[in-house]
Amino acid sequence: MAGNRTLNKAKAAKQDEFYTQLTDIEKEMRHYKDFFNGKVVFCNCDDPFESNFFKYFAINFNSLSLKKLIATCYATSPIVYTKLNLFGTETVASTEETEKKPYKIEITEVTDENQDGRTDLADVEYLLRNRKNALTLLEGDGDFRSDECIELLKQSDIVVTNPPFSLFREYVAQLINYDKKFIIIGTINAIHYKEIFPLIKDNKLWIGYCNGAKTYEVASNYSGKISFEKNGTRYVKMGNTFWYTNVDIEKRHENLVLYKSYEPDEYIKYDNYDAIHIDKIASIPHDYYGDMGVPDGFLEQYNPEQFEIIGLGNGDLAKEIGITKNYRGRTDLAYTKDGKQKCPYSRIIVRRKVVENHED
Ligand SMILES: C[S@@+](CC[C@H](N)C(=O)[O-])C[C@H]1O[C@@H](n2cnc3c(N)ncnc32)[C@H](O)[C@@H]1O
Repeated sequence: MAGNRTLNKAKAAKQDEFYTQLTDIEKEMRHYKDFFNGKVVFCNCDDPFESNFFKYFAINFNSLSLKKLIATCYATSPIVYTKLNLFGTETVASTEETEKKPYKIEITEVTDENQDGRTDLADVEYLLRNRKNALTLLEGDGDFRSDECIELLKQSDIVVTNPPFSLFREYVAQLINYDKKFIIIGTINAIHYKEIFPLIKDNKLWIGYCNGAKTYEVASNYSGKISFEKNGTRYVKMGNTFWYTNVDIEKRHENLVLYKSYEPDEYIKYDNYDAIHIDKIASIPHDYYGDMGVPDGFLEQYNPEQFEIIGLGNGDLAKEIGITKNYRGRTDLAYTKDGKQKCPYSRIIVRRKVVENHED
């Protein structure tokens, strides 16, 4: 059994090895530009020579007016030291010394190092090659939970990365524990985790702008299913990722436009909880102030001034809000339609907030 667990862990770790494309990072980050002004950004699951997160912040260091950029890599990453595609050439990371250990990069300015009249990635490369203090070895393996990485976390204002999905719960717990801002990628399933959903409900974590990313690059020893290969690089498509953040974004204050009116005959009530079933977001009535079971996608448009999240409609967390056992003996929402009992696909229970003088 212990052997199985180790094997499963190793398998999960391998499945964590996929890399975010620059365009996906750019698409999300453009919504946070003002926030980055004067901030220390930490990419703590990011081999600086591979990660497009590091690349994005290095290229945009001046335009975002960053105070500092820190990136650390993890020892067991299969791409560490093997694939230095950030600068397209062999760089300091391949020196004998750095090959022994993972390292960190700390940048406090990007100037026109090579004096070609502009500041760009070539200057970052120059800086890393020539300024000894920009790149230093880590004592340990670069685990985000290690003391030295936690010290770097404490110095940071915001963490931006795509962390290992297999450690997502622990990863988020640490960020919350140290009271850090973050913009990170995780699977859509994470909203149902018993450690994550309460954070969403309590407005300590929410969904960012874009739908995570669709296509990720994978390492050559990736053991999962590959979607396609292009110019020798292998990619996987994942439709099920979200950006998760706790940065106050404009989207979070935009009301969901509701145009349907509540008609009792049109909305089914659940058999085991006092709420109406909402088949799709567009069906949420503008004039119903009781509980409603909405699809998970609701969270992408959730404005806490307009709605309150009551709980989850499935599993153990559903029990907490009083959803009783259904015809299958489980605490999942169920309704009866045309004499047949049915459990809807995953639902979140929400309620409209009553705003004085609200415009219906
Ligand atoms: C999903 S990949 C994403 C890599 C990179 N952030 C990106 O988006 O391209 C997650 C990364 O976290 C690294 N990692 C795994 N376990 C880690 C740990 N305990 N501490 C820090 N990094 C870890 C993996 O090696 C892997 O490179």
